[in-house]
Amino acid sequence: MIEIIGALVHADEASAANGAARPAPLQKQLIERLQQAILAGRLPAGSLLPSSRLLAAEMGVSRNTVVIAYEHLAAVGYVIADRQGTRVSPLSSPAARGEPAAAPAATEVAYAARVGQFAALQAPVDNAYPLTPGTPALDRFPLAAWRRVLERAMERAWPQALGYGTPAGEPALRDAIAAHLRMARGVRCDGSQVVITEGAQEALNLCVRLFTNPGDIAWVEDPGYRGAKAAFNAGDLRTLAMPVDAEGIVVPDDAWRAHPPRLIYTSPAHQYPTGAVLSVARRLALIAQARRGGAWLVEDDYDGEVRHTGEPIASMQGLVDDAPVLYVGSFSKTMFPALRIGFVVLPGAIAARAAVALQEMLRGGHRLEQLALAHFIASGEFGRHLGRMRRLYRERQRALRDALARHFPAARILGGDCGMHLTLLLPSTIDDRMLAQRAQAQGLNPRALSGFALGASQQTNGLVIGYGNTAAERLAPAVKQLAELAREVERDAQSVAKGGAVRAPKSARKPARQSAQESVQESVQNCTTRPRRRSRATAARDV
Ligand SMILES: Cc1ncc(COP(=O)(O)O)c(C=O)c1O
Repeated sequence: MIEIIGALVHADEASAANGAARPAPLQKQLIERLQQAILAGRLPAGSLLPSSRLLAAEMGVSRNTVVIAYEHLAAVGYVIADRQGTRVSPLSSPAARGEPAAAPAATEVAYAARVGQFAALQAPVDNAYPLTPGTPALDRFPLAAWRRVLERAMERAWPQALGYGTPAGEPALRDAIAAHLRMARGVRCDGSQVVITEGAQEALNLCVRLFTNPGDIAWVEDPGYRGAKAAFNAGDLRTLAMPVDAEGIVVPDDAWRAHPPRLIYTSPAHQYPTGAVLSVARRLALIAQARRGGAWLVEDDYDGEVRHTGEPIASMQGLVDDAPVLYVGSFSKTMFPALRIGFVVLPGAIAARAAVALQEMLRGGHRLEQLALAHFIASGEFGRHLGRMRRLYRERQRALRDALARHFPAARILGGDCGMHLTLLLPSTIDDRMLAQRAQAQGLNPRALSGFALGASQQTNGLVIGYGNTAAERLAPAVKQLAELAREVERDAQSVAKGGAVRAPKSARKPARQSAQESVQESVQNCTTRPRRRSRATAARDV
């Protein structure tokens, strides 16, 4: 037997040999050796193992060690013990059956068809880089106040809060969110309609699971939030891209008849990423049509709380009674993204029925954080934090605008009434993906506007520039660096167009979209002041 399973390593031999770490106990070694020999086919099915007395003598261990090892192997099914002795079980591993094992073929893994739709856009970039959109001022988060509410939750709710909670979330948090939304966002709701989720992304996934069947149609904004498309893809929906203009999502006249949707995703308070506010006329039309067509509007109010100018733009959900709106929110911008707390407000008429399904679909969790957040909101700390952050973001946005005006003087800037990013339109001579890529190589993380395009022919060219997590004094040098890179990208493209020596990286090899004769300086300074006319502005596209 020792030729088949090898000799065991005794503790005294190991330390004498090379002072190595202590070997595993003999009983464990014996079990592993026998298992390996059985799986590899060296001990074929049906073979009779030596008696415990014989094997103990051969391996130099106590008989009890072998008896326990055999008992363990019998309990897991490797061997069968009866009056005749201990035999190897008939197992289905190819080696145990004496067949050659097939080499694992990683590339042939049969992923679900939907996985193919998640083509990676770019390698993940460090979100701590300056100019990253969507990240709030992490170093300005009031840690001391947060620690106090967490400790308070731990003291008061221990030990009950360590158990499973209500699947839809802690009632105290649902009530606190409902009270806040009624007051701050004009949402018509009470706590029973609020379902706590793991961020807005999970809320979108939940909307898909609750309200759609595979193959249903979902409309998304284009350019738009890729997370919405990802949620719809994951639910096997057919996603249709709707263009966006200065008044938000544009629905072509025949779309309701030709492609009746089940879900319509929109970010009405601050369209992502263009910053457009959805006009009241379009909101009312969408609500009326959705009601008629049995569709749900998914209102993503991801940063509507961070309004910088005029009165807050109230929610679409609260515009009329019983609007067919699933209002989605998140604390990723107002608190911090790692908190992973978001929510969806369900219409009152369906909240009770949905609660029954949610009992089975969700498991709750993160109860202490939820209780802490409930107190953070109810005690007024959240409102004070928001007020401080709005002031900070206004200051940072001013610094960013000043820097853009200096270094991209003729550029058109979109957005800014809300949130933590501005969108800079670029002339067609500067490839936005190339510029974003080069900026990332230099430790800056603006995003290419064309990366938010959901349809193949989307022409939008620009940069989405975040200022939430970048100190005001870092913005001017970062924008100066961007302008230098923009000139470089343009110069390289011109050189390629002229058949010159510069061989730009692959992503820059798109044809320059404007006369290569224009001077670099001129075009950086004349960054598009008008959005490109989109002849297909009313055409929805399958994406
Ligand atoms: C448009 C939009 N919606 C929602 C979210 C928030 O998602 P989550 O709450 O899952 O972090 C983001 C975050 O970047 C966003 O840009």
